[in-house]
Amino acid sequence: MAYKAIHLFLFAHFLLQISSIYAKVPAIIVFGDSSVDAGNNNKIPTILKSNFAPYGRDFSGGQPTGRFSNGRIPTDFISEAFGIKSSIPAYLDPKYNITDFATGVSFASAGTGYDNATSNVLSVIPLWKELESCKEFQKDLKGYLGNKNLNEILGEALYLISAGTNDFLENYYVFPERSSQFSIDGYQKFLLEITYKFVTELYQLGARKISIAGLPPMGCLPLERTTNVMFGSDCVEEYNNAASSFNDKLKVLVTKPNKEHDGIQLILSNTYDILSDIIHNPDSFGFDDAETACCGTGFFEMGHMCDKINPFTCSDANKYVFWDAFIPQRKRTKSLPIM
Ligand SMILES: *[C@@H]1O[C@H](CO)[C@@H](O)[C@H](O)[C@H]1NC(C)=O
Ligand SMILES: *[C@@H]1O[C@H](CO)[C@@H](O)[C@H](O)[C@H]1NC(C)=O
Repeated sequence: MAYKAIHLFLFAHFLLQISSIYAKVPAIIVFGDSSVDAGNNNKIPTILKSNFAPYGRDFSGGQPTGRFSNGRIPTDFISEAFGIKSSIPAYLDPKYNITDFATGVSFASAGTGYDNATSNVLSVIPLWKELESCKEFQKDLKGYLGNKNLNEILGEALYLISAGTNDFLENYYVFPERSSQFSIDGYQKFLLEITYKFVTELYQLGARKISIAGLPPMGCLPLERTTNVMFGSDCVEEYNNAASSFNDKLKVLVTKPNKEHDGIQLILSNTYDILSDIIHNPDSFGFDDAETACCGTGFFEMGHMCDKINPFTCSDANKYVFWDAFIPQRKRTKSLPIM
């Protein structure tokens, strides 16, 4: 998800949830999708990229980095709040090495999901491969730190997972494969089995402090509203319901590893309600617009359509809840008028 000012709210909310549990955090290790990709997609052959203006225009130095935002992303703020560093680099960014990654690294890839079929849609990095990269990183870290501090760092580090939106909006609701195979309820369970397995594998790799992000009210993302013109461009209830019932199941799921795995501190970071509040009462949070995005017309642009020659981009992104329309859904956007 790519918006700036709102990150501060989500981040504050998030921090409240985690800081009491996780006092000491030497490093932050990140997995997931565009909500937390710091530029890994720059280095893979996918069309889903954001390493060009106006992305990054409010980032330090005004540089597009491959973050799907005009500025920093939530994980950057979290890192800063823990007193580590102001931004977390992408694992595939050649400008950084193990010296940097030792205090925080993002394996995330925009467009990915829990489901392998989701990462195939836009040829991005599947979640299981993000975990493979993490294993590689751990080997390097061992070489860098020696055995002495390794387990302590791995156990004290904070592991963040943020994914799932694309499984629904890029995959389930778009292609027949999963939707003919599963009901929404069944698909949620399928995804949560993968989540559970992922957490268990992380635990086996030494992770103890793990936070999983719930889904946002994904029917209120600008592109979803745009495709809902028949209903006055309201939020798409069906998608919001899918997100909140997924979050309910996720809430139950996180209790399981906490019982089964010694020493694990797994939490759900659920920003659905606060985000929904902001979207429905933007004024009270200092925003002018929660329906359209800053970039371009705000109705559908994301990725390559949100570029610097688009004349409609807003001048002050802080007034908008959304920076871009979020969903890089080529099929759907193709049928929309392109200005
Ligand atoms: C990482 O890069 C920095 C400078 O960019 C360099 O000084 C350092 O030696 C590198 N570290 C390793 C372990 O390669
Ligand atoms: C996803 O793909 C990987 C690699 O082929 C495989 O190991 C894993 O089991 C797959 N996950 C699911 C849920 O099918």
